[in-house]
This record gives sequence, structure tokens and C-alpha cells, in this order.
Amino acid sequence: CLIDAEKSTLVSLCGKVAGHADVTGAEALERLFLSFPQTKTYFSHFNLKHGSPDLLKHGGKVVNALGNAAGHLDDLSGALSVLSDLHAFQLRVDPGNFRLLSHSIQVTLAAHFTSEFTPVAQSAWDKFLAAVSEILVSKYR
Ligand code: HEM
Repeated sequence: CLIDAEKSTLVSLCGKVAGHADVTGAEALERLFLSFPQTKTYFSHFNLKHGSPDLLKHGGKVVNALGNAAGHLDDLSGALSVLSDLHAFQLRVDPGNFRLLSHSIQVTLAAHFTSEFTPVAQSAWDKFLAAVSEILVSKYR
């Protein structure tokens, strides 16, 4: 679980990312698809070209969902309940892919928010994304 210093750095960086949700999320997805091409199979209905409207729209959704979750650190399960149902029952994304996306998100943040993405911030994001992922895969059966 996150210590207070990590919570504040997480919430603070989320605030800065919020103004660039689409481009930040799209870049994280682009990194995911380039580094781990097998993840593209879930998005066969998307245009995955650099800067495509599909990538920007979906990237924005993912980043905004994370921002919302960061605002509910004391009730992550509740905040992510609908998304958890979606990923488990409808999308059935292989749980291993969540680590890959978490990695791509952290690299994207490190590349664009260099001064904010300190070791403490990275530790916070790593724990936060692991917690979010655990909830999103918790309803699989
Ligand atoms: C849909 C968030 C991980 C595949 C979504 C949506 C959100 C979201 C907000 C849109 C839901 C809606 O439109 O109501 C997240 C978060 C993740 C995560 C926060 C982890 C940090 C993943 C992973 C994959 C994946 C690892 C697969 C590699 C999908 C797909 C859709 C989706 C295929 C549906 C896209 C569409 O057809 O519009 N996710 N997701 N997600 N997610 Fe995830």
C-alpha cells in the first residue's frame, strides 16, 4: 500500500497528466503495441497508426480512469468495479497484459514528466498500477 509521500506525488502527477490525457494515453498504448505486439490482438477493430483518433480516444479513457481511481485510493475496488466487470466478463484480457501496460504507462510518464517522475513517484505509480491491475483481473473465473 502507498505511503503518504507516494499518495501526494501520485495525485499531483495525475493532475498534470489530466490536461494531456489523450496524447499521454495514446503514447502509452503505442509503446505497448510496439514493444509487445501480441497485445494488438485485443484491438483488431482499432486503427493503431501513430496519432489515430482511436488511439487518442482510448488512451484518454484509460488515463481518465486512472485519474479517477487515484482520487479514490481508499476505495479502489469500488471506483473500478464497472471496469473490472468489463475486463473480466466481456473483454477477457489475459491478466499478464496488465503488467505490460503498466510498464508502458510508466515509461511514458518518465519521458514527459522528467522532473516529477522521481524515484518516489515511480514507486508510487508502480504500486498504484499493480493495485489497479489486481482489481481489474480479480473477477476472472
Ligand atoms: C476498454 C481502462 C488494461 C483492453 C477500457 C476502457 C477503460 C479501460 C477506461 C473503456 C471502457 C468503456 O468504454 O466503458 C483500463 C485500465 C487498464 C486497462 C485502467 C489498466 C491499467 C487493459 C489491458 C488490455 C485492455 C492490459 C489489453 C491488452 C481493453 C479493450 C477495451 C478496453 C480491448 C475495449 C476497447 C473498445 O473496443 O473500445 N479499458 N484498461 N485493457 N480495454 Fe482496458
